[in-house]
Amino acid sequence: MSISKDTTDKVKERMDIEEVIGDYLPLKRKGQNLWANCPFHGEKTPSFSISPAKQIYKCFGCGKAGDPIQFIMDIEGVGFQEAVKHIAGRYGIEVEEDEARTPEQNQAQNERESLLIALGYARDFFVKNLQTEEGKSIGLSYFKERGFSPGIIEKFDLGYALDGWDNLLKSAKSAGFQEEVLLKAGLILQKEGDASRVYDRFRNRVIFTIHNISGKPLGFGARILTKDKNQPKYINSPETPVYHKSDVLYGMYQAKKSIREKDNCFLVEGYTDVISLHLSGIENVVASSGTSLTDGQIKLIKRFTNQVTVLYDGDAAGIKASLRGIDLLLEGGLNVKAVVFPEGEDPDSYSRKVGSQAFQEYLDSNSRDFIGFKINLFKDEFKRDPIRKAEVIREVVQSIGKIPDPIIRSVYVKEASGLLEIEEEIIHAELNKSLLKTQKEQYNKQVKEAESETAFEDLMATEQSSATSFGELLKIQEREMVRILVNYGTQKLADEEMHLCQYLLSETEELEFTTPIYAKILQLYREALVKGELPTSAYFIGLGDREVQMEVIDLITMRHEVSSHWEGTHQIIINKENDDLTLTGYKSILRLKRKMVQKLMEEAKVKLRDAEGEQDNEEKVNEYQVLYFELKKVQLEIDKELGIVIG
Ligand code: UTP
Ligand code: MN
Repeated sequence: MSISKDTTDKVKERMDIEEVIGDYLPLKRKGQNLWANCPFHGEKTPSFSISPAKQIYKCFGCGKAGDPIQFIMDIEGVGFQEAVKHIAGRYGIEVEEDEARTPEQNQAQNERESLLIALGYARDFFVKNLQTEEGKSIGLSYFKERGFSPGIIEKFDLGYALDGWDNLLKSAKSAGFQEEVLLKAGLILQKEGDASRVYDRFRNRVIFTIHNISGKPLGFGARILTKDKNQPKYINSPETPVYHKSDVLYGMYQAKKSIREKDNCFLVEGYTDVISLHLSGIENVVASSGTSLTDGQIKLIKRFTNQVTVLYDGDAAGIKASLRGIDLLLEGGLNVKAVVFPEGEDPDSYSRKVGSQAFQEYLDSNSRDFIGFKINLFKDEFKRDPIRKAEVIREVVQSIGKIPDPIIRSVYVKEASGLLEIEEEIIHAELNKSLLKTQKEQYNKQVKEAESETAFEDLMATEQSSATSFGELLKIQEREMVRILVNYGTQKLADEEMHLCQYLLSETEELEFTTPIYAKILQLYREALVKGELPTSAYFIGLGDREVQMEVIDLITMRHEVSSHWEGTHQIIINKENDDLTLTGYKSILRLKRKMVQKLMEEAKVKLRDAEGEQDNEEKVNEYQVLYFELKKVQLEIDKELGIVIG
């Protein structure tokens, strides 16, 4: 079934880009627009802009752009239908579904969506199993023994996988799910050596559901209940088209609100640590699930806070092994604190041992910034050993060097100097060495980022200066034409009954656009006019054609927002072109025609040369010469009209 057009229209009417994106990112207002660090690529200064007036977003770094629906599609990785439902849910709009799906609609429901639906089914299945006789006596009693409350079991979608080879498989198949989908979702496995035989991946284990940040199940972790040393303690979902482990943190869905409120994110190792902290009243906690942190996970945290507190088991060797994770966090521009638990305790065991009050107090009084934490960790070693101390200094300096902010770096230098009992200058010198080493790396990275950001400006610049290629110039004129059309097409011309679009379209009727996307927008424009609509830029953005959407967003944002130093000059241009639309439109048509004439001249020249190379071709040569000069005359006339002085 698909969502009715009525519902989609209601959603489109009600949705507000500031609210929809504000659910995911902290937004800062700067002028007319809102800005954030782009959630789709790593960056330290915001280039992700949101225009409440135009109801669009656009990242000037990575180029992602769209309307609120597209944002949900991008960030949640779902299709159009799911995204509309999501926004409907946010605004409490009731979702009506059309009775029958057309085959195209079934196709439009993409693979990701079908996997998500299957995973949702599996989650429900595991949760329900907990209420069966077997589930109660084995799964539920295990959770109870660990102190998990019914509320927590529900909050985390904890469940139970029955003992048996095909409980889920059978149930899912009878509910209409295809084996292929279950396989791709990581729910079933193929028998080794006989791919036609499939069976449940999760059997006879308690289930921890892994959610995405909007609460959809992406996968599962399944804990063994016996002490069988021949079997892994946890069996986890594999990497699938919807479950990219490096971009997911366990517990983020349940934690995100609290992380934002507390402006801090506790980081633990395991599923049960997350749950125990919730039981102790601490909800801003996520788990890396036993692996080292990834860039994707750090980006995810940064969407909610810049402060991370890493909770370590009281086992020194383990901590030292995981120190690299801290450097990664620092590199990501996060403030890092750490808490170490007493020998042999992890957050789960310790919170149960001392109770929630004492546990929270322990966190408060034992959290140290990473420098103090790191130095403390090696203190015993270097007290007796000066060589070791030099190593520790280097180690600490290296971490400080990862911090992008120079002011924060110097604060840490001071602190390290105190704790290590060594002069600041020496640490600074060491830091400079280390910075120099990484500078080249960073430089290369920045150059890459900058390249993508200046692409627009470059393109604009070619408009004025010498052209790279003829086709490109023509494209620029076509774009200019379409830009005026989508920006001002619906405005009335001065003293006339006509809209600018009618004028422009009638003037360009006989011109054939060479750039497919501009030809397409022109075509859509004509079709809309025929239907009696006066299409604004919003009309094109909402059409559901991704290519058109991206292009139109570019066209309505490029002049204002290419970069701040353009704003001044271009604001003036825009006001001018807005004031005298007739003239602006006319000039644009002339420029476009000029370019098209030039293109024909180029073609004539090529043909002329070819003809000259052949024998007995005087007639043809003559013909092309005449054509060329005719075109040249037209061009001169246009030039005169445009007031271009030919040198
Ligand atoms: P732990 O062994 O600390 O598990 O591994 P735990 O979650 O604290 O469970 P309890 O308290 O002993 O019952 C930490 C994390 O490492 C991953 C899991 O994500 C686990 O939560 N892990 C561990 C696996 O994926 N597979 C394993 O076999 C073991
Ligand atoms: Mn544990």
